[in-house]
Amino acid sequence: MRVSYCWTLVSLLALVPQSTLASVLAIDYGTDWIKASLMKPGLPFDVLLNKDSKRKIQASVGWKHGERLFGGDAAAMASRFPSDVFTSLKYVEGAPYNSETVVNYAKFSQSQLVETSRTTVGLKQSDGREWSVEELIAMQFSYVKQLAEEAAGEKVRDVVVTVPPFFSQYERDAVVDAIEISGLRTLALINDGTAVAVNYAMTRTFTTPEYHIIYDAGASSIVATLVSFTPMDAKSASAGTHISVAGVGYDRKTGGLELDNRMRQILVDMFNAKHKKDIREDKKGMAKLWKEAGRVKAILSANTEATSSVESLAWDIDFRSKVTRTAFESACSDLKGKFAQPIYDALNAAGLTLDNITSVLLVGGTTRTPMVQNAVKAAVGAEKIALNVNADESPVLGAALYGASLSRQFKTKNIKVSDIGLHDVEVSYFAAASTPLSRPRSITTLIFPSGSKTGTKKTLTFKRKEDFTLFFDYKHLIAPGYPQRIAESEITGVAEALGNLTERGAVDPVVKATLMLSESGFVSVSEAVAYGEIKDDSLTGKLKGLFGGGSSASEEATSSSENTPPRETEDASSSESSTSSSSSVVPSPSASDAAAEKKKVVSKEDTIKLKVVTTFPTIAPMTVDEKKQARSRLRAIDLEEAAKNRKDEARNTLESYLYRMRDLLDDENNDAPFKKCSKESERAAIAEKLEDSFTWLHDRGDIAETSQFLDKRISLEAMEKPIIHRYQEIEAFPQALNNSQMWNWSTRLFLTEARQNLTAEFEADLPSKWTKEELDGLEKTLKDHESWLNEWVEKQKSVKPNENPVIETTEMKARAKVLETSLMRLYKRKVPKSRKPKVNIVAEPEPTAPAEAEAEAEVPQPPPVEEQVVPEKPDQDQTQEPLTKPGHDEL
Ligand SMILES: *[C@@H]1O[C@H](CO)[C@@H](O)[C@H](O)[C@H]1NC(C)=O
Ligand SMILES: *[C@@H]1O[C@H](CO)[C@@H](O)[C@H](O)[C@H]1NC(C)=O
Ligand SMILES: *[C@@H]1O[C@H](CO)[C@@H](O)[C@H](O)[C@H]1NC(C)=O
Ligand SMILES: *[C@@H]1O[C@H](CO)[C@@H](O)[C@H](O)[C@H]1NC(C)=O
Ligand SMILES: *[C@@H]1O[C@H](CO)[C@@H](O)[C@H](O)[C@H]1NC(C)=O
Repeated sequence: MRVSYCWTLVSLLALVPQSTLASVLAIDYGTDWIKASLMKPGLPFDVLLNKDSKRKIQASVGWKHGERLFGGDAAAMASRFPSDVFTSLKYVEGAPYNSETVVNYAKFSQSQLVETSRTTVGLKQSDGREWSVEELIAMQFSYVKQLAEEAAGEKVRDVVVTVPPFFSQYERDAVVDAIEISGLRTLALINDGTAVAVNYAMTRTFTTPEYHIIYDAGASSIVATLVSFTPMDAKSASAGTHISVAGVGYDRKTGGLELDNRMRQILVDMFNAKHKKDIREDKKGMAKLWKEAGRVKAILSANTEATSSVESLAWDIDFRSKVTRTAFESACSDLKGKFAQPIYDALNAAGLTLDNITSVLLVGGTTRTPMVQNAVKAAVGAEKIALNVNADESPVLGAALYGASLSRQFKTKNIKVSDIGLHDVEVSYFAAASTPLSRPRSITTLIFPSGSKTGTKKTLTFKRKEDFTLFFDYKHLIAPGYPQRIAESEITGVAEALGNLTERGAVDPVVKATLMLSESGFVSVSEAVAYGEIKDDSLTGKLKGLFGGGSSASEEATSSSENTPPRETEDASSSESSTSSSSSVVPSPSASDAAAEKKKVVSKEDTIKLKVVTTFPTIAPMTVDEKKQARSRLRAIDLEEAAKNRKDEARNTLESYLYRMRDLLDDENNDAPFKKCSKESERAAIAEKLEDSFTWLHDRGDIAETSQFLDKRISLEAMEKPIIHRYQEIEAFPQALNNSQMWNWSTRLFLTEARQNLTAEFEADLPSKWTKEELDGLEKTLKDHESWLNEWVEKQKSVKPNENPVIETTEMKARAKVLETSLMRLYKRKVPKSRKPKVNIVAEPEPTAPAEAEAEAEVPQPPPVEEQVVPEKPDQDQTQEPLTKPGHDEL
């Protein structure tokens, strides 16, 4: 599969040249594992590696003696610190504290659970700190964010997170809240199976429609997603693929964790029978057995028997026992029928049969368990099982591709995705009372039945005079103990708006509410307006007919028939608006979205926007304040950790510096640079300071501040510095001297030749490049340089290596440079072109701009040959530049 991903990359990641390109992160947040992928122009498209170059990260966060750990580091601590390591949090994401889900979670988790103010699950650490599930997941998201940022070399903000398709709004809210707390921004949520389908379609072309089932058996659930792949253009397969989810079957309770649970029960029974003690009384022992159960289960996937062995499980007892696959399978016998059931449910939902299915793709770790795989094979036939998808990574890669297509910054293969909502969503409201005393009658409409396409909007029309409220409910229980009321949206300002319309001549104005099932699966009122036709045309007549004048209460209802609301807008391009609403603080309507545009069919004066106030009486998404608070709690930990890391680093650096200094002092070899270049007294002073520092580090190292570690090092470095300097000077001296002598020599050579030429030219009455005065000047510079050099080189020769040098190599270089500059100025000079009076040339010692112009006016001559005299020195310095110019301009 890896190979085909590479191909994908090449073909679909032609990037748009924009300066604002941002990368897209995808996270497949599972119960056991986190997988992430980063889509960034210029980076190979692959899963993100963790710090140990692993392709998946254990979904855990924990504390060990106050130090926070993630992934495998945290999971490894689970049995030592059962109350401080949190795992399988996805299991209780958005779950009501009083639900069966939480009871089941408590069977395998040793965490102390508490109820939050939002009636969801909180987890308590041994030090009493409490965290919401969202906060603990946010920590893991932020850990992934950091990995991604290290890989990207820039900030990463946009994320797509996979969720099981059966996730209710409460659970989806929890995911989005965690994303926001972590500092990421929700681009979209995508259902796991749909993500696999996207990944599958990216590397394939479909010439005819095909149906495939994605069978995903994970840690906490089994989901079968039936997907159709249809070519967008029947004539050209390369036009793109339309991926459409046709039906989904799921089981929220049967998954790897349940199997682990059964396995642990086997081990518990064995232990209890053998040792006549109840291991369930020992938290740490149970945590160890939980880990062991997973290990034994994995062994039994490939073997028919396994030996379980845990040293010092509890009460100092070493546990050892043999488990057979048969025993395991019989402990799971009641589950057998459940493994394949989601496939049948998905087929039913789609109205298809197995004959219509091309293949069944297996994904998720639990599909490795033989009894699960066998159940699927038995149900669909072994020949339908496709093993050509990457069971672990295709969801996250698909999510990344989906994110890339949403962000519009990547040129991806043309793929259109239509997903569905799985839960029947009803909207209800009270009919307007016919008389003030009559009991209000409640009217309920199945607004988004199971199987409704996501990204769908439906508009309901109400004949109302006053503000009223829409109640959103799941028609059926999502899971035992979960609430059904999703949200209540009050539409306000009705009377004023209607009055206003009536005043302007509208007859029987109405209220229209647009309800949305977003691409990410959130239900909300996306817009509400008062609407009336000012001109009395046929539509008003129609409305009148529909509502029968609106006089009686029973006529109040609005939407035509239950399943076919008056107007439905479905548009894939509305994905933007749905995702933005899902990521907004409260998934209530955002003022400006695509819906508004669509409604412009009606002339503007005829509609007045109404205010919608949405409340969440059951499990509410976190409020802005709650999220801010959570974020600052997390940030405080991050800052604390960063400060601690800085201190650790300062301490380690000081420590290794001290050891290095000690080694230098202890060096037996007197020719070693440090020894050679230092005085006895200096070494003694350093040694004393060094011992002080060692003592200080030992006594106070644990309570010292970061700055103290730095100060200690800086003061020692100050003592070492002159010694290092001497050594560096000794090292640099020969080269500096060579350089000085070379310019000395070159200048001498030049002068000799130039003087000869000058004489010859004078005699032949030819123009010369230099005057005698100029050459005399150069000679003086040379002599100055020479005598300085002679004097100080002599002095330097008598300086001992452990004494400070009397001349610095930097000064030698600077002086050589002066000579070089003087030489080059004359050397680069061009020959004057005519027999101009010499006086003229003398008059212009520096070739300034006007002089150049004059020179250029002269008859062209071949440029001077540039060899011999030029010392092949590397630093052909910029200072020469202006001088070469005139000559070259001539050409
Ligand atoms: C499904 O298969 C049945 C029987 O093979 C066939 O009649 C039907 O047209 C197929 N449906 C689709 C949507 O392909
Ligand atoms: C009512 O109508 C007037 C114009 O007739 C307009 O200026 C005013 O803003 C309207 N009020 C509302 C609430 O729309
Ligand atoms: C001086 O430099 C020249 C040319 O770079 C080199 O050949 C020669 O070996 C050097 N002499 C010393 C003493 O560095
Ligand atoms: C400078 O060069 C001249 C001639 O090449 C030489 O006699 C003299 O010793 C040199 N001086 C130094 C300090 O190298
Ligand atoms: C001296 O003149 C000769 C012959 O014209 C020429 O090749 C040489 O470069 C001149 N030397 C200098 C230092 O200009």
